[in-house]
Amino acid sequence: MAIVAPSLLAANFLNLEKECKMLNESEADWFHLDVMDGSFVPNISYGPMIIEFMRRTTKKLFDVHLMIVEPEKYIEDFRKAGADQISVHIEACPHLHRNIQQIKSLGMKAGVAVNPHTPVSLLVDILQDVDLINLMTVNPGFGGQKFIPHSLSKIRELRKMIDTWNLPVLIEIDGGVTLENAGDIMAAGAHVLVAGNTVFKSADPKATISKLKTL
Ligand code: DX5
Ligand code: ZN
Repeated sequence: MAIVAPSLLAANFLNLEKECKMLNESEADWFHLDVMDGSFVPNISYGPMIIEFMRRTTKKLFDVHLMIVEPEKYIEDFRKAGADQISVHIEACPHLHRNIQQIKSLGMKAGVAVNPHTPVSLLVDILQDVDLINLMTVNPGFGGQKFIPHSLSKIRELRKMIDTWNLPVLIEIDGGVTLENAGDIMAAGAHVLVAGNTVFKSADPKATISKLKTL
């Protein structure tokens, strides 16, 4: 069964408390929180202040996806705001191993996010140090984009690496996940489905979350 992590990027921020409560009552496993800096990605979203407010609404796991340069400057702030798990981008981190150690030293789970053009083979020497790989299946920066079909073979390849080395690493798929493609994504070897528009723009978000869990 999939771990489902709705992305709040697609939520109605005028009713953020209501959206958080809806997720809290749903079968959603994690809150996926997208942080964008307008530098690593061409968009700006929200930071620790908003996450701190959301933290008051739920005890579910906060999965923070940092799409920012120099994440080491802010990792402690996100911990204080309530992050349980933080992913940083391999493309933004020349000292990735140090960033991972920093996240872990603050008592959080650590993940690495990879852009669509980044081969999973580049993860060979970091895979044993992380809890999660966020495979981006759209170009990071915006919700509501189309899933890049080539991603399915990347999922298979990564899953093979993880199984071969018997590592406890979760594969999280982020971008363009729908009720139509979620089955193929899970069959390719994913563990976690991030879904923004598919959840928040659906007529019945809670029912959509339940469906995603079982596809
Ligand atoms: C994109 C973000 C995603 C995004 C997914 O940069 O990392 O988490 O919110 O949104 P959907 O599911 O709408 O593609
Ligand atoms: Zn994300």
